[in-house]
Amino acid sequence: MRQVRTLGLLGTGVIGGGWAARALHFGIDVVAADTSPAMEQWIRGAVDNAEGALARLTFAPLPPKGTLSFTTDLGAMARQVDFIQENIPEQLELKQRVLAEVSRVAPPDVLIASSTSGLMPTDLQRDMQAPERLLVGHPFNPVYLLPLVELVGGERTSAQALDAAADFYRYIGMHALRVRREVPGHLTDRLQEALWREILHMVNDGVASTGELDDAIVYGPGLRWAAMGTNMIYHLAGGESGMRHMLRQFGPCLKWPWTRLEAPELSEQLIDRMVEGTQAQAGGRSIRELERLRDDYLVAIQQVLRQFNIGAGATLRALEERLYLQSGAAARVATARATAAGGDGLASSQPLRLIETQVRPEWVDYNGHMTDSRYLQVFGDATDALLRAVGVDDAYRQSGRALYTVETHVSHKAEALALEPLYVTTRILGLDDKRVHLCHSLYRRRDERLIAIGEQLYLHVNRAAGRAAPMDAAVHARLQRICAAHAGIPEQAGFTSHLRLSGG
Ligand SMILES: NC(=O)c1ccc[n+]([C@@H]2O[C@H](COP(=O)([O-])OP(=O)(O)OC[C@H]3O[C@@H](n4cnc5c(N)ncnc54)[C@H](O)[C@@H]3O)[C@@H](O)[C@H]2O)c1
Repeated sequence: MRQVRTLGLLGTGVIGGGWAARALHFGIDVVAADTSPAMEQWIRGAVDNAEGALARLTFAPLPPKGTLSFTTDLGAMARQVDFIQENIPEQLELKQRVLAEVSRVAPPDVLIASSTSGLMPTDLQRDMQAPERLLVGHPFNPVYLLPLVELVGGERTSAQALDAAADFYRYIGMHALRVRREVPGHLTDRLQEALWREILHMVNDGVASTGELDDAIVYGPGLRWAAMGTNMIYHLAGGESGMRHMLRQFGPCLKWPWTRLEAPELSEQLIDRMVEGTQAQAGGRSIRELERLRDDYLVAIQQVLRQFNIGAGATLRALEERLYLQSGAAARVATARATAAGGDGLASSQPLRLIETQVRPEWVDYNGHMTDSRYLQVFGDATDALLRAVGVDDAYRQSGRALYTVETHVSHKAEALALEPLYVTTRILGLDDKRVHLCHSLYRRRDERLIAIGEQLYLHVNRAAGRAAPMDAAVHARLQRICAAHAGIPEQAGFTSHLRLSGG
């Protein structure tokens, strides 16, 4: 299967737009195809709208954004992409016909995934050429913020296709959940629909309003569900003996008619109650406003869950680890190229250029310039890239050793505006077996102007012992080589040192 550099989208509505935003953000080019030419403007707007929240999801260094192009020629899209995600309306015959057409044009090693909410992959692949590359990759709205994607194979889907699709989805920050066998509605929509059917019944019977039923979730089970599913929650509800006790205590209720399997008739009266109820809940706020609110809390929740390395927070952590490793590797390659062949690629007699970044819109303060705390963040990222390049990686930190910031001085020389591309160069000023003294220079790319200097002192610690300790000999040797190479670099203009490495 191919490495995915370009994603093709078949259908660019709500879900196609979400896939585009996610893929572009993580550096994948997108060719979007839709039979309606009007969708070009729509998808570009959808990508712009998504960017505000997506940009806050992670501060790990991102690759350059992918580029978006649009076509109404489905065949032209299928010929030039590495992976196709189908997002056309949920009608079996339409999907079967379009998937069959596209499969005659796309090379056989191009995977084709359907976003279908509940159709079976065996039905979808029926008329396709190379049907073994068809799978269901069912996402959730908003695709750019929710990591879940359900992967379902049909009778003719190959195991390699499912593995390769899972790799791609993980690359763009998703949690690929493999569904063991195809069932209508996959897993999540079956669960959601059970709840939805009961909601419709209760509104129909006048038991509760839409708002009251949403409160019944939002103030209770909804909070638990973000990190633990129903099964784990019920396991905890059973006290010390867990699920066994839970089933013994509440199992008999399952026989009582608490819920119904058949949905109620969608009468005009029921439809009116649902519409009026949700309009009252919206309280005059537009769909756009509500989407922004939803996106903001989805970002915040994932960042909290990351602290606990649980659920979607664990997915975010894994993504960030990959982004840091990738940026460290890219920095090493760039540095090695810039220095003489052979020897240690990092030991250049130039400051190291390890971080390329961009002023994100939310980094800007009321003056329209990058705000103070973001300078610290960018300098911290540069230090991180340097330390990873010399071997202070996740495994090193897990061994209980780390470098902690002791002191930072920032001098501001000029300002940076929203979306300005920036880069940092880093020089090692001094080193002993426990300390590293750095000078970072932050430049804006448009005119190569120096905009800030950050001087930092780091202390190597043994976390278990809770005190400073000598760093690993190999890490020290690598830093030492760079420090020696940097000794001859003239001092950065405008730099006054506030820190000294003297004494023990
Ligand atoms: N909306 C959701 O919450 C959601 C969530 C997960 C999965 N899905 C699934 O994603 C798919 C798309 O749903 P949506 O909500 O984005 O629909 P949508 O109506 O917003 O978008 C469908 C798009 O497909 C285009 N289209 C129609 N026929 C086409 C054709 N022959 N070739 C190319 N483009 C064509 C339409 O112009 C439209 O832009 C469905 O299968 C749906 O079940 C939807």
